[in-house]
Amino acid sequence: MVLTRGLRSLFVAGINYACKYTSSSVMHVRAVSTMQPLSKNKEVTITFVKADGERIKAKGQVGNSILDIVVNNDIDLSGYGACEGTLTCSTCHLIFSKDVYDGLPDKPTDEELDMLELAQERGDTSRLGCQIIMTEKLDGIEVIVPTGINDARQT
Ligand code: FES
Repeated sequence: MVLTRGLRSLFVAGINYACKYTSSSVMHVRAVSTMQPLSKNKEVTITFVKADGERIKAKGQVGNSILDIVVNNDIDLSGYGACEGTLTCSTCHLIFSKDVYDGLPDKPTDEELDMLELAQERGDTSRLGCQIIMTEKLDGIEVIVPTGINDARQT
């Protein structure tokens, strides 16, 4: 009998705790949903121009890296993005027009420049696509995909 009362007390205490916990969770979720309405980032487009002249137009969102856009659109750029954006392969090398290059939001870091040294067909307006984050200003840009890629992890 004593054991039964003890179990009942524990059960009631558990119910009370669960109600409190559930109640605060529901309030938290409601607060988030009313105070921070879902918003979708603005859509952007980018055109990849391959060496054979093929042009591939793809959509992404502000805040995506160019690598994200390639992956999310399942674009067939052989070997592109082999290191998944960890700055260890240089396979995401792209060439920009001078205007676009000068307007990119960030300058390349030393780590990116080191990796670019290993990229084939590197030029003055080369960047790594995994390091370029799309902004509204970059909507509609074209980028040249080099003929060859070099996976720095294999050199
Ligand atoms: S994906 Fe490897 S360096 Fe960009």
